[in-house]
Amino acid sequence: MTGTKTAAKKTVIVTRKLTAAVERRLARDYAPVLNATDEVYAPARIVALAREAKADALLVAATDNVGSEVIEALPASVKAIATFSVGYNHIDIAGCKRRGICVTYTPDVLTDATADLTMLLMLGAARRAAEGERMLRNGEWTGWAPTQLLGTHVTGKILGILGMGRIGRAFAKRARGFDMKIHYANRTRLTPDLEHGAVFHDDAEAMLAVVDILSINCPATPETTRFLDARRIALMKDGAIVVNSARGAIIDDRALIGALRAGKLAAAGLDVFDREPLLDETYRTLPNTFLLPHLGSATVETRDGMGNKCVDNLDAFFAGRAPPDRLV
Ligand code: DGY
Repeated sequence: MTGTKTAAKKTVIVTRKLTAAVERRLARDYAPVLNATDEVYAPARIVALAREAKADALLVAATDNVGSEVIEALPASVKAIATFSVGYNHIDIAGCKRRGICVTYTPDVLTDATADLTMLLMLGAARRAAEGERMLRNGEWTGWAPTQLLGTHVTGKILGILGMGRIGRAFAKRARGFDMKIHYANRTRLTPDLEHGAVFHDDAEAMLAVVDILSINCPATPETTRFLDARRIALMKDGAIVVNSARGAIIDDRALIGALRAGKLAAAGLDVFDREPLLDETYRTLPNTFLLPHLGSATVETRDGMGNKCVDNLDAFFAGRAPPDRLV
């Protein structure tokens, strides 16, 4: 941990180690309290650091628990929280509003990286990439065979996207390149210029019954938590595939595991888990899961972009301008 406060510079508690470019910018323009070891801070530690440094702002990430216990205990000096994420379910937004703390997030800059990763999840799950890779790494490949590791054809299939926000739409654009037929369920129907002929379902359950592949791209909210449970999986076609690059909480793990085991679902591609970095151990043992460790936005360009957005928002806030990505 490092940090030197100069009179003019605002003090920012930075809870995770960021890219070198972003940390350089923070060091130039702020008095950052950096986290060189990148340990994940407990909520009490975030509060203690903010109090100790009389912080003006926090720069947090999706791995931090910035719930009501943190928000209520923060010193009055903290006026802004910039989260290095597009998701904000880790922050007590209502509490920030009550305390008059400005909260900003990082939309747009991670859309393409996350949509690319979702494509990887879909292809990895459908084409049994993890099994193939394991076979090679374990020295078990005995050569090409006509019936070896046969997967699911993706081209021309029906893709259902739950949550047609920026990332859902960017994934749909990529899937159209694979001649997939796009269906989507969303709180509101998109305008034709955003829909591009995709079929809208105002009832997400009705969509489940018609899709070959379901991609979860909606935020975790009380309404979407455990959306994909046993009852809804039963509505899906036999042999369907589930992909999740949004939040683990949207899936009922036991139900998904049961369906993967029973062969009701052919495969799942998962980048996010309910209690990261923990995951239901069974996922690791199932052959038909393609698993990644929350890599959705993990490119150099994207992580630089996210960090720069956090700093842009703090710059605007402390200069008395409207932060471009303000949530409250
Ligand atoms: C986000 O931005 O919400 C991601 O989950 C972290 O990359």
